[in-house]
Amino acid sequence: EKGGYDHFMLKEIYEQPKAVSDTLIPRLKDKDIIIDELGMTDEEIKRIRKIYIIACGSAYHTGVTAKYVFEGLARIPVEVDLASEFRYRNPIFEPDTFAIIVSQSGETADSLAALREAKAHHIKTLGIVNVVGSSIAREADNVMYTWAGPEIAVATTKAYSTQLIAQYLLALKFAKVRETIDETTFSSMIDSLKQLPEQISFLLSHKENVQKFANRYLASDHVFFIGRGIDYAISLEGSLKLKEISYIHSEAYAAGELKHGTISLIEDGRLVVAVLTQPDLYKKTISNILEVKTRGAFVMAVTTVGNTQVEKVADYCIYIPETNPYFTNSLAVIPLQLFGYYVALGKGLDVDKPRNLAKSVTVE
Ligand code: M6R
Repeated sequence: EKGGYDHFMLKEIYEQPKAVSDTLIPRLKDKDIIIDELGMTDEEIKRIRKIYIIACGSAYHTGVTAKYVFEGLARIPVEVDLASEFRYRNPIFEPDTFAIIVSQSGETADSLAALREAKAHHIKTLGIVNVVGSSIAREADNVMYTWAGPEIAVATTKAYSTQLIAQYLLALKFAKVRETIDETTFSSMIDSLKQLPEQISFLLSHKENVQKFANRYLASDHVFFIGRGIDYAISLEGSLKLKEISYIHSEAYAAGELKHGTISLIEDGRLVVAVLTQPDLYKKTISNILEVKTRGAFVMAVTTVGNTQVEKVADYCIYIPETNPYFTNSLAVIPLQLFGYYVALGKGLDVDKPRNLAKSVTVE
C-alpha cells in the first residue's frame, strides 16, 4: 500500500510532481488557463472587489502565499482568514466579494462553517478541495478540485502543493481577464508553472542533503523559521511540518519582526531556518541572518540557486532551482517537508500518525 516507501508521508512527498502536474496541465489549453468549474463570466471576474481566502492549518498557509499572488498579479485585495476565526468575527460581507475555501478533506468543521456563513450572506463561494464529493465540495457554489489523489499521512504534503497550484492558476486567470498582466509575462509564467513538476523531482533526487542535516538536529528543543513576504508564508509551513511530526517546538517569524520578540530566544547553537527566495528581499533577510548569527544561532538557508551572497552568511545552504518569484513556495517547501520527515524519522516517531492529531478535523 505504501508502494515500497517506509511511510505514507514519504510516498506522498514523492507523488508531488505527478499531483502538481495533474492539477495544472488539464487547465492549460492553447496558451490560456481554462477553469470551467469556476462558473464565472469574465464580467463577474472583473467585478470582484475583494477576496476572502478561508482555511485551517496548512491549507491556510497556502492562502497566505496566494494573497501575495492575487494582490501582486490581479491587484485584488485579499484577506486570509483562519476558518475558526472567520466564523466568529462578524466579517463584513460586501457585494462583489468572493470567498475561497481551501480544504484537502472538504470536511474540516470550521472551514465548512465559514463556507456556510459566507453563503448565508450571499457571497459567491469557491471550494478548492481534494476529496471529491466531500461536504465543502458539495456545498460551495463551485468547486475546483486539486487532483492530489488520496492523502493518508496526517502531515499534508501533496495536497498542500496542489492547493498552491490551484490558487496560482486562479490568480493568473483573474489577472489576464482584468488586464493587470501583459501577454509576455502571462505566457512566461505559464512556462514557469509547467517546469515545476520537473524541478520538484530534481529537489527530491537530492534529498540526502536534507537528510544529513536533519540528523544533526534531532535533539533541538526550539527551532525558528524566518522569511519575508512569500518567504514568510513558506516559513509558516516549514515550521508546521517540523513541529507536528517531530514534536520539536518551532515558530515561524516574519524576519522583520525578530527584533520585536523572538531574538531574545536566540542563543548559542539555536537552529534558525532562513528562507530567501524573493530577490527584492534578499538583502533585508541577510541582515536578519547576521543579527541571529551574532547571537550564536546556526543558520540553515533555503535559497535560490546562484544567490551566493547567502552562502557568505549562512552555515548551510539548500538551493532550489530558479522559478518565477511568485511560485518559489512550490519548490522551497520540498526540502522543508523532507526536513520535518527526517527529523521525525531520526527520533523514531510515528511519522504518519503524530500523537493527538487527526487527518480530518470534523469537530471544532
Ligand atoms: O482537510 P483540510 O485541508 O481542511 O485540513 C486543514 C488542516 O487540518 C491541515 O492542513 C493540517 O494543518 C495538516 N495536518 C497539516 O499538515
